[in-house]
Amino acid sequence: MSIKKVLLTGATGRTGSLVLKKLRQRTAEFAPIGFARSQSKAQEIFGSSSGFVFGDILDKPTLKQAMKGCGALIILTSAVPRMKGTPTPGNPPEFDFEPGGTPEEVDYHGQKNQIDAAKEAGVEQIVLVGSMGGTDENHPLNRLGNGNILIWKRKGEQYLMDSGIDYTIIHPGGLVDEPEGMRQFVVNKEDRLLKSRESCTIPRGDLAELVVQALIHPQAKNKVFDVICLPQEDNTGVVNTDFAALFAQLTAIL
Ligand SMILES: NC(=O)c1ccc[n+]([C@@H]2O[C@H](COP(=O)([O-])OP(=O)(O)OC[C@H]3O[C@@H](n4cnc5c(N)ncnc54)[C@H](OP(=O)(O)O)[C@@H]3O)[C@@H](O)[C@H]2O)c1
Repeated sequence: MSIKKVLLTGATGRTGSLVLKKLRQRTAEFAPIGFARSQSKAQEIFGSSSGFVFGDILDKPTLKQAMKGCGALIILTSAVPRMKGTPTPGNPPEFDFEPGGTPEEVDYHGQKNQIDAAKEAGVEQIVLVGSMGGTDENHPLNRLGNGNILIWKRKGEQYLMDSGIDYTIIHPGGLVDEPEGMRQFVVNKEDRLLKSRESCTIPRGDLAELVVQALIHPQAKNKVFDVICLPQEDNTGVVNTDFAALFAQLTAIL
């Protein structure tokens, strides 16, 4: 099997950095390159900034250059809401986005740039992490900073689906920084999990593993799905190790 060169954007993010660490361990399969904005952040997380290309996803020429020779792209960028001021009792926190960092810019134009650059560079496969909740235009996340974040994320996803490149689009539930590999994955579609379960969370490490597995298994190609992990108390003790079967399950869920 030949080694696949993979560009990972959002590589200094909380999930992206975990994916990069995992890919770096699989030296027989992957030659990963991290794409990030900040050299000092990469240095802080990884102890070195080697294996990175630094740039902004709003700058398409840098993206295109970074994607040369890549067989796959992982999109783990996202607009990040920031809290305005300090919330006080009775006054809920307010949010905005940094200039140039709105969901329209990052999650739509930034994703579109990545997909266009990938297409021009001949990238064959894209794994994109979005979010659950996108079927509901009135979802509270859309009101954060008036950013309509889920709406712009879904527009970016539609652009990917129309691109002709093989895709896997993962919509995780709420991300938590808990140990990975302890809870069973549950997959479904179109926010049915959100509507039917009280707890819809997934550890970032488990999501990172799923992203890596989506690169490996052809059963994950051209699929869009939601994913959570069973809460500890509902766990049957089964931890998924057969990712091909997990992805294949999606074909039967209509
Ligand atoms: N938080 C949740 O509960 C939740 C739930 C469901 C889905 N999700 C989604 O899951 C994904 C991963 O979440 P996370 O919390 O692990 O991500 P995160 O830590 O917020 O990372 C976002 C990444 O995007 C990068 N980024 C933002 N704008 C950029 C730009 N213009 N150019 C280049 N990079 C840019 C950031 O760069 P810097 O490192 O330089 O800041 C950061 O690395 C996101 O898409 C998120 O929306 C989150």
